[in-house]
Amino acid sequence: MTEAEIFDIAANHYPRSCISSVKILGKRVIIEYKNIAEDESITARLKHKISELMPEYKVTVAFVEEKNANLGVDAIEKWQIRGVKKIIGVASGKGGVGKSTTAVNLALALANCSKKVALFDADIYGPSVPTMLGYEGSPLASDDGVNFKPFNEYGIESVSIGTLIDRDTPLIWRGAKACGAIEQLMTQTLWHNIDVMVIDMPPGTGDILITLSQRIDFAGIVIVSTPQDIALIDAIKGVNMFKKTGTPVLGIVENMSYFICPHCGERADIFGHDGAKQTAENMGETFLGAIPLEPEIRRTSDAGTPIVAENPDSPHTKAYEEIARKIIQRIG
Ligand SMILES: Nc1ncnc2c1ncn2[C@@H]1O[C@H](COP(=O)(O)OP(=O)(O)OP(=O)(O)O)[C@@H](O)[C@H]1O
Ligand SMILES: [Mg+2]
Repeated sequence: MTEAEIFDIAANHYPRSCISSVKILGKRVIIEYKNIAEDESITARLKHKISELMPEYKVTVAFVEEKNANLGVDAIEKWQIRGVKKIIGVASGKGGVGKSTTAVNLALALANCSKKVALFDADIYGPSVPTMLGYEGSPLASDDGVNFKPFNEYGIESVSIGTLIDRDTPLIWRGAKACGAIEQLMTQTLWHNIDVMVIDMPPGTGDILITLSQRIDFAGIVIVSTPQDIALIDAIKGVNMFKKTGTPVLGIVENMSYFICPHCGERADIFGHDGAKQTAENMGETFLGAIPLEPEIRRTSDAGTPIVAENPDSPHTKAYEEIARKIIQRIG
C-alpha cells in the first residue's frame, strides 16, 4: 500500500485537515493526527484495518499538537542540558537505513578521538541503543529519586527513551508527551563533563523531530542514507527540514554503501555508487564518508558489542573514526 492509500483510510475517521502526516518508514506505518483529542477506539480500529492489509507492518497512531507553522528558532527557548558541551543529531529521512548503527559506532569513534561522549536514544518509534550497547532490560537508576544515572558502556554514557517505554506495549505517544519524556530524560540525567552528545533521532521529518530541532541547541546534524534513490529523496527532505529550522547540517553519511566479497575481496556496489556523495555535492553539503554493507557490522550491533568497540583495528572502525574526525573538525 502507498502512503496516499493509508491517508485515505485515516481520513475515514477524521477530516483530511486533521491528518498531520502519514508515513511508511521501513516496516512501520506512522499516522499522526493533529490538534484532536487522543482516541483509543479510533487507534484500535485503524491498527486492525491496516494490519489486515499490511500484516507485516507495525502501526503507530499518534495525536499531536501542532502549533501554527513557525519553524524559526529565535523565539523558542532551548532545553538546558547540564554537563554537555556540544550536541550532534544523527537523523535519516527514511527508517531502516542504519541510523542507530551509525549513531552508536560514531559515538564510540568520537570517544576513540579522545572526546568524552554521551549517546542519547531519542527514537521513540524504535529505540535500539540498549540492544546495541548491551543494556537492554536494565532499568534506569537514580540515587536521589530525581536525577537519572546514565549507563556507562564501552566508555560512553548513555540513556534511551526505550528504558521508559515497554517495547511490547504499543503506546500512543502524543507529540507533547513524547517530547516531554525526552526533555525530562535529557535534562534530568547526570551527565559527567561530556564533550559531545550524539542523539539517535526519530526517523522521518515529523513534528517531534521539528520540536527537537527547535529545543535542542545542536552543533549540527548528520544525515544517514543508503545509496538508493528512494532513500536519498528522503535524505534531501531531512536536510531541508533541518535547514528550515535553522539547524546546521554537518553532512551526509552513506551507509550500506558497498560490499567487499569475503572470498575474493572484490568490491560490489550493490545499490549503485556514490549516490549520497553526489546528492551531498548537489545540495552544497559535506559528504562525511561511506560505510560498507558488512555482516560483521550487523552481527556486532545485534550482539550489543558494536564493531568500533569489539574490533578497534577493523577497517570499518577506521571508516567510522574518519567520519568522527571530520565532525570534530567541523564542530571544534
Ligand atoms: N553498514 C551495515 N552493514 C550491515 N548491516 C547494517 C549496516 N548498518 C545497519 N545494518 C543493519 O541494518 C539493520 C537496520 O539498522 P539500524 O537499526 O541501525 O537502522 P535504523 O535506521 O536505526 O532503523 P530504524 O528506522 O528501525 O530505527 C540492523 O539490523 C543493522 O544491524
Ligand atoms: Mg534505529
